Amino acid sequence: MRQTILVTGATGTVGREVVKQLSMQDDIRVRAGVHSLIKGENLRRLPDVEVVEMEFTDPDSLHAAFTHADKVFLITPFTDGQVEMAKKLVDEAKKTGVKHIVKLSALGAGEEPGIQLGRWHREIERYIEQSGIPYTFLRPASFMQNFENYNSATIKQEGKIYMPTGEGKVSYIDARDIAAVAVQVLTTDGHEGQIYDLTGPEAITVAEVADTISYVTGKPVDYVDVPEDAARQAMQQQNVPNWMTDCLLELYSVHRAGYSGGITGRVEEITGRKPHTFRQFVKEYKDCFC
Ligand SMILES: NC(=O)c1ccc[n+]([C@@H]2O[C@H](COP(=O)([O-])OP(=O)(O)OC[C@H]3O[C@@H](n4cnc5c(N)ncnc54)[C@H](OP(=O)(O)O)[C@@H]3O)[C@@H](O)[C@H]2O)c1
Repeated sequence: MRQTILVTGATGTVGREVVKQLSMQDDIRVRAGVHSLIKGENLRRLPDVEVVEMEFTDPDSLHAAFTHADKVFLITPFTDGQVEMAKKLVDEAKKTGVKHIVKLSALGAGEEPGIQLGRWHREIERYIEQSGIPYTFLRPASFMQNFENYNSATIKQEGKIYMPTGEGKVSYIDARDIAAVAVQVLTTDGHEGQIYDLTGPEAITVAEVADTISYVTGKPVDYVDVPEDAARQAMQQQNVPNWMTDCLLELYSVHRAGYSGGITGRVEEITGRKPHTFRQFVKEYKDCFC
């Protein structure tokens, strides 16, 4: 019998890739859990994809989305309420008899004391462990797509990337590689109880990110190393909530200190394919940067 896999946060950076890649698999029915049906319209056109509306704070919508789901790829958004949201999702998974939860976590979630972002993910991981539902945790490094989502406006308008990360190297990963791992984990045996640290194939500074975008687009792009106080001020001026400013500056301080450059071979081990380099990513996302 075909199994049903629910993907939450299905219109997000990783979720939409997981839905797309799962829809190409045989014998899988994909249920895309979307916050808004309008945003999820594109997913409806993929083969064997059913789109369901989900509001993580609304138990009725959760029950409908989880009913008859065999497995779940669990994504919660970057918010200060993500632990409570995730716990509700896990409770519903337990009620409806889900057989495997694959959770999108974050690299460093196992560190103690770690940083706030990691502690939130670890709290959710622990809740899943205690639920008794078989699980796999994917802990990726920072996404290459962050440069598309958060920096493309200043890259296009000013030819600049503003970040407070100094010369710290980061092993950025392409969200499509995270999705490829998720698909393997959800559709093949032997991943239960595993925790996978996922990184790209190289660690690079933001100055090297800027150089790569410049090389591929043929337009000058410079990195501006912003002092932490100035970064905080800029975020306040843009009405970024205080909790988010604190979390991001804490993460950037880890990048700056050079703790985010470790590389693992997990993507290739699990998918059999090499992860995208940053240059390949920029070539394929070129239009976002020029
Ligand atoms: N970015 C990174 O570098 C990085 C690195 C490691 C780990 N992570 C982790 O990855 C996760 C985020 O993944 P992502 O970047 O793929 O997500 P994303 O692009 O931010 O998308 C979040 C998804 O959740 C949906 N959503 C938000 N609030 C919801 C609610 N109340 N009810 C139902 N759906 C809701 C959004 O829909 P709408 O847009 O329609 O609201 C969207 O589909 C976070 O847990 C983050 O900590 C991120």
